Amino acid sequence: MTEIQTIAVPQARLGSGSQYHSENYLDCFNRFFGFSESPFNNTPDPNFFFMSQHHHEALTSLNFGIYQRRGFLVLTGEVGAGKTTLCRQFLAQLSPEIKTAVILNSRVSGTHLLSSVVQDFGIIPRGKGRRGLYEALAAFLLDGINRNQNACLIIDEAQCLNLRVLEEIRLLSNLETSKQKLIQIVLMGQPELRDLLKKPSLRQLRQRIGVYVHLRGFTPNETRDYILHRLSCVSRGESKIAISTDVFERIHEATRGTPRLINTACDRILMAAYAHQTSHITLDVARDAFEEISFICAQEKGEGGSR
Ligand SMILES: Nc1ncnc2c1ncn2[C@@H]1O[C@H](COP(=O)(O)OP(=O)(O)O)[C@@H](O)[C@H]1O
Ligand SMILES: [Mg+2]
Repeated sequence: MTEIQTIAVPQARLGSGSQYHSENYLDCFNRFFGFSESPFNNTPDPNFFFMSQHHHEALTSLNFGIYQRRGFLVLTGEVGAGKTTLCRQFLAQLSPEIKTAVILNSRVSGTHLLSSVVQDFGIIPRGKGRRGLYEALAAFLLDGINRNQNACLIIDEAQCLNLRVLEEIRLLSNLETSKQKLIQIVLMGQPELRDLLKKPSLRQLRQRIGVYVHLRGFTPNETRDYILHRLSCVSRGESKIAISTDVFERIHEATRGTPRLINTACDRILMAAYAHQTSHITLDVARDAFEEISFICAQEKGEGGSR
């Protein structure tokens, strides 16, 4: 076995057979490793947020784009790279004078999108028609300028937007005074978004992109630090869980540093360790788990990334 990375985790013993059957499996599992909760859930829980150097740079660029009123900002990244998680972090740290609207469902018509934007900004429009919605939004944004406010619209899964809706979004970015853009629009999506924006009919929008960020997977060191970070979030620091260096390396290799896949991999590996009744995780302990992990990661790759 090669070098071992350890973090403090309380040592807990699995109960007797009868206890094992009468208790919730998850409770037994968490108690065995001394976890307060599952460390690798695939949810964008801000308590688990890990700030890699690249995440830091991406956040800085997004903030720059918003505060400098750069109009369009584009954030791309592979499926599971952490776009939605980063977006939540971004929203949480914005100052209150920046009003926000977030659109999660991008498979909508132009008017439906406009209506969702108006609703999410908390605007009460006079009419529900396109014109009424547009005028209500323009009035809200102009009023915001007078109050020294800024507005930020975030559209997730923007690779699914159709061309007509993108044109509608471009028209929104036309809302401006002679000095500044009234609304900053963040388009977030998978790398296909980049291909979509290359279409000749979208050149007007493309030319307005003020900030472009691509969220890469973690480096090998970041993958290790990410795993240790998530483990430390659920540990109370009394005993030890040990992971050999080659296990970290294999996880990085299989997942290419993609956080969602790292979570899935670590979940499987911990289950294997639990089955072996050990908190010393070696390649030997994780052998079967890695077969499953290779399958899951290969499938993701083969499908070009499924959601
Ligand atoms: N920076 C991060 N810190 C902690 N967990 C993360 C981070 N980035 C991603 N994750 C984890 O990976 C999962 C997938 O990330 P997500 O933001 O949904 O990816 P995407 O939106 O790019 O498909 C999240 O639910 C979260 O558990
Ligand atoms: Mg997402």
